[in-house]
Amino acid sequence: MNSGTGALYVGSNLKMYKDVGQTLEFFRALDSLTADMQGGDLCLFVMAAYPALYTVSTALPKLHVRLGAQDVYWEEHGPFTGAVSPAMLKECGVQVVQIGHSERREYFGETNSGVNKKVHASLKHGLTALVCVGETAQEKSWGISIERVREQTRIALHGVTAAEMERVWIAYEPAWAIGPRGTPATPEYAAVMHHALRQVLVEISADSGPHMPILYGGSVDGRNAPEFIAQPEVDGVYVGRAAYDPKDFNALIREVRQVWLSRRKRP
Ligand code: PGA
Repeated sequence: MNSGTGALYVGSNLKMYKDVGQTLEFFRALDSLTADMQGGDLCLFVMAAYPALYTVSTALPKLHVRLGAQDVYWEEHGPFTGAVSPAMLKECGVQVVQIGHSERREYFGETNSGVNKKVHASLKHGLTALVCVGETAQEKSWGISIERVREQTRIALHGVTAAEMERVWIAYEPAWAIGPRGTPATPEYAAVMHHALRQVLVEISADSGPHMPILYGGSVDGRNAPEFIAQPEVDGVYVGRAAYDPKDFNALIREVRQVWLSRRKRP
């Protein structure tokens, strides 16, 4: 089952690696390095830390790289110390919000039902939601990877309308593949998981499910990224460490774009 997204999705999550000044420089450099690809079939986005969002969107108002946040809270306002609402993100120029990253699930107690509330709140405010799903190493060893991502996806999207799903992207990121201690999934394994995810998205919405982008993330680098994109089930890559130097990220983007363009030409 091939997807029909019609665009290549490439994004990065800066996590807690860059301060405000470094984030600004990163966006400035990446935007200019990739300027010739804007307006085409490439959807490029970067999730920055909260303190940098307003600075980036005001200092660089004409960015073609979409500005993303790494998390959000579901309430509108009120006594929720430390939380940031979707409206506040909008005010900072954010277009995309990442929800349910495995580090949020592991270190901050993120639950599937919390992910669902965040998805609803974000969509209500016109944001695009990048929902992260993926099994842990233990779940993989138990042979329940597909069950796990099915459950995460079904709960995350519970009650979301077919029209709203046009603004939902999925990142398949197995927890065991993420970060300096992670091992990347093989492209074949990713393809199997993406196929299972596509099936569940189609079950949830026969209209939107076939077109929703599914990205692979977890130790993606310049060497393996083209191999992931060579899989017809993979609509994009979500990159951490290998994207933090804009020159490296630009090179990676160009490589995967070539593979993606030749993949599209195949009968
Ligand atoms: P990584 O991070 O590429 O550094 O493994 C990926 C992610 O957490 O999205």
